[in-house]
Amino acid sequence: MNVMKLFSLEGRVAIVTGGRGLYGSAISEGLCEAGATVVIASRNSEKCEEYASSLRQKGLSAWGMALDLADDLSIDRLVDDVVSRFGRIDVLVNNAVDRSKMVSLNDATREILQSSASVNLNGQILLSQKCLTYFVKQKKGNIINISSMRGLDCPHFPFYPPEYGDQPVNYTTEKWALVGLTKYMAGRYGRDGIRVNCICPGGYNGDQPAARVADDAPFTRAYKENCPLGDWAHYDDIKGPVVFLASEASAYVTGATLVMDGGWTIW
Ligand SMILES: NC(=O)c1ccc[n+]([C@@H]2O[C@H](COP(=O)([O-])OP(=O)(O)OC[C@H]3O[C@@H](n4cnc5c(N)ncnc54)[C@H](OP(=O)(O)O)[C@@H]3O)[C@@H](O)[C@H]2O)c1
Repeated sequence: MNVMKLFSLEGRVAIVTGGRGLYGSAISEGLCEAGATVVIASRNSEKCEEYASSLRQKGLSAWGMALDLADDLSIDRLVDDVVSRFGRIDVLVNNAVDRSKMVSLNDATREILQSSASVNLNGQILLSQKCLTYFVKQKKGNIINISSMRGLDCPHFPFYPPEYGDQPVNYTTEKWALVGLTKYMAGRYGRDGIRVNCICPGGYNGDQPAARVADDAPFTRAYKENCPLGDWAHYDDIKGPVVFLASEASAYVTGATLVMDGGWTIW
């Protein structure tokens, strides 16, 4: 088959959790540009639909829907609604993250750790479980977990001056867990025609100046000086990896971790 056809997502239906966030917006747009119909899902469904509508104005196929990964009913409702509205699901991108429960090891309590994992790990497992019931029936499906460079290393503590506070223990452990979850699901469901892969992105600072970490902030300087490619990730950088993994271009790839971190984790 022509290689460009292998990358096509024409006729596919994808769910992107947190699909209106920083990386989520680029992931949603990239999947749409490759031909997929994309459901952009998070708690703020109006924000998702507003973004989906802006993509539709560019001739793409995107729809916003509600999802709270901390709520089992919300997970069930989203997946059932997508199947009843679009007839199928082909791709799930577990991209959402709730950073409101990040906590240092020193300050961690059982309650806050469980609350964080309820979204950032268990929510991903339970949403995957729900999609897998459809994927197994279809004998085809594709899950992409968005981990992080932090799922391969740990915070470089010397890069964070005291005013940044201590770095959270749960972000690192949840992101490492997604790499393991990827391998578990890939191994368990490979014979069902289902592929599961993971992307470990590096730092993306967004393109809205008001929300960006300042260029002269100590962490920005440390990041750029120590990243082999010398910069933050850019908006388009995650589109290629996600379309590759979602499409037949990666037909023989499963359980893999695609590192997209500007080289950060090589040293
Ligand atoms: N940005 C980076 O530098 C970076 C680096 C490495 C890896 N990553 C990874 O990339 C992914 C996206 O990160 P980001 O920085 O783009 O995130 P972000 O901009 O903070 O967006 C996070 C998204 O998750 C959604 N969300 C939060 N809690 C949720 C819940 N309970 N249920 C459903 N959705 C929920 C939010 O929408 P609502 O508030 O509407 O729910 C939001 O759209 C994450 O997995 C992150 O770990 C990011």
